[in-house]
Amino acid sequence: MRHVMTLALFTLLPWASPSQDEATPSAQRAVLVTGANSGIGRTTTELLAKSGFFVYAGARKDEDLAELNKIANVQAIRLDVTKQDQIDAAVETVRAAGRGLYGLINNAGVAVVGPLIELREQDLAFQFDVNVFGPYRVTKAFAPMLIDSKGRVATTGSISGTVSWAMGGAYSMSKFAVEAYTDALAAELAPFGVGVSVVDPGSYKSEIMTNTRQRMLDAGYTGKGSRYERQIQSMLEAPWDRSEFDEPDDVAQAFLAVLTAKEPRRRVMVVPDREEAEITIRAALQRVAQLNENQPHAFDRETLIRMLDEAMAGE
Ligand SMILES: NC(=O)c1ccc[n+]([C@@H]2O[C@H](COP(=O)([O-])OP(=O)(O)OC[C@H]3O[C@@H](n4cnc5c(N)ncnc54)[C@H](OP(=O)(O)O)[C@@H]3O)[C@@H](O)[C@H]2O)c1
Repeated sequence: MRHVMTLALFTLLPWASPSQDEATPSAQRAVLVTGANSGIGRTTTELLAKSGFFVYAGARKDEDLAELNKIANVQAIRLDVTKQDQIDAAVETVRAAGRGLYGLINNAGVAVVGPLIELREQDLAFQFDVNVFGPYRVTKAFAPMLIDSKGRVATTGSISGTVSWAMGGAYSMSKFAVEAYTDALAAELAPFGVGVSVVDPGSYKSEIMTNTRQRMLDAGYTGKGSRYERQIQSMLEAPWDRSEFDEPDDVAQAFLAVLTAKEPRRRVMVVPDREEAEITIRAALQRVAQLNENQPHAFDRETLIRMLDEAMAGE
């Protein structure tokens, strides 16, 4: 994967180099990153800002906005992706600045955990409000500017958009939705010259699970009385800080690549090791085998292999 990421760097267009940017600030392209104050969003914001982009960095809290404003080539924007008034205000701020908008990175996200047969509907709605309705709302609002610039939209998906885990069903449902959203949006925006991608990370360091745990504790959720009590309690006792994982630098590089490649890739899986790659690819292949199994129009093995070869050739 690191090899692929390195190759992706060779596709950078010359204007993306920081030295060129200093020489020609008027050519600087603008990108909006949602959820820019932490984890993947923060690392991506820093990389884009030092790679020649002007970054509008979405955040919700005053202290985060102030921190982001300290980075060169970054302007923080108050943006909760569940609040239409803040989205509308962000559109006005970006429009008034006169740079247009070349790229949108729908990165803001949350993770809800818990068994599906017990999950409160409001928690599932919260999961979708941020991870699915968020990208839908923000992209819709900025679409006219992205079409004007023949720009790029990239959403942070996940390998959980291919693999669905026990206790992670709500999150996986939202990330599967992001995959579907990406394909339909790509087909709809292609005629206008806008490239659409989804970047699917595996496990990287961030605050996502600390935030999840805090929300569960705030709601007084202990799993007591649940059919899954033992699993939930051991989940709550496990470390949630993700400090054992790598910084999400490769994920940020993937966003830079889809913004700068001539032909952006539709799906970019970025995982820290072969094990996560294998889990994900096997899940995708199992789905193909299950779909094909025992139905009157089933394809034989040779045809499936030919189809795979064609898919790998981009046909
Ligand atoms: N880290 C991983 O291993 C991993 C793997 C696969 C996918 N992802 C995805 O990566 C994206 C970023 O997550 P992360 O892991 O970097 O976690 P993170 O450190 O918790 O960052 C999440 C960001 O989203 C923001 N956010 C949450 N709710 C929001 C809302 N309603 N409106 C606007 N912003 C909101 C957070 O802001 P606040 O600080 O204000 O809450 C924060 O900036 C998510 O879409 C996540 O699903 C992460």
